[in-house]
Amino acid sequence: MPNFRLSLGPLRASLFAGRQGAEMRFGVGGPRWLSWYEGVAAHRRARREADRPLAEVPPPEEAGAAADLRRRIATLPWYHVIDLGHGVVTPGIFDHRPVLPRYPLPDSLAGQRVLDIGTFDGFWAFEFEKRGAAEVVALDIATFSEADFPPPARARMAPAALAEKTGRGFAIAHDVLGSHVERRTGSVYRLDPAEWGRFDLVNLGNVLVHLRDPALALQCIRPLVRGRLMITETIDQDLEAAEGMGPLMRYMGGEQDCNWWRYNSAALLRMPRDAGFAATELATIFRLPMKGGARDMTQAVVVASP
Ligand SMILES: C[S@@+](CC[C@H](N)C(=O)[O-])C[C@H]1O[C@@H](n2cnc3c(N)ncnc32)[C@H](O)[C@@H]1O
Repeated sequence: MPNFRLSLGPLRASLFAGRQGAEMRFGVGGPRWLSWYEGVAAHRRARREADRPLAEVPPPEEAGAAADLRRRIATLPWYHVIDLGHGVVTPGIFDHRPVLPRYPLPDSLAGQRVLDIGTFDGFWAFEFEKRGAAEVVALDIATFSEADFPPPARARMAPAALAEKTGRGFAIAHDVLGSHVERRTGSVYRLDPAEWGRFDLVNLGNVLVHLRDPALALQCIRPLVRGRLMITETIDQDLEAAEGMGPLMRYMGGEQDCNWWRYNSAALLRMPRDAGFAATELATIFRLPMKGGARDMTQAVVVASP
């Protein structure tokens, strides 16, 4: 029993005192006040439910699909940001979606045969498919050991890392998007028109930087191109600023992330011509945002025609 009780409307205060000390307890009391209090709480709960955006209450089966997908993509490091639907986007380093209008690509690729060289997670291959290409072939090396690592860097790498298969992200995106892109493994140095056929559009995005012999790679690509080759490459700002110096390449030696060369746009315009393309054109130069912004990713896009 309390030693002292005070009521003020719905509020009650009780004082309990004993040998151990004293304690004050507060409460809301009385059946009338209790039902009023519960009514207010129920009203607030209903308001909160009504105000909640619809997107936060997805149908149960969609929530399950999105959760499964998130678990699947969390197992991998992603290079490309790819929208997989169900509100799920891969956490890639490069998001090309906001800069898509910068690339010299038509809205429709209907009827065209397209080859994406060095496809990685496949952002570009899926984009070409989205634009209605009749056939998209995506090429990448089968394992990382096929990349042009210089011998000292290769010697330092764990055998398991070299033997690792490429394309795990591509496989997930391909499956989820219900894509019909055909992924094939091989090296750009071994392209053969008798085996691969010829293409209306060939995409070579940020691959030349990783090749010890970019001039040879362009020679290997040339016989497969019946339409145009779109080359995107990171350019070196200092070389680009060296006006009047003509085609320039900075040798980087492949030690760091298998980066062999940085180019100026004049070099990107000249090299395809030396590989047998009749004409080249500089379509654009722009900065590609990179997650973390670790590197300057100023991109030049060159179109080469046979
Ligand atoms: C920097 S990623 C570029 C990904 C994509 N093309 C883009 O522009 O976003 C380079 C890609 O080239 C591939 N690659 C490296 N050496 C290659 C070779 N010899 N033949 C074909 N692909 C190669 C890599 O495996 C990787 O998928």
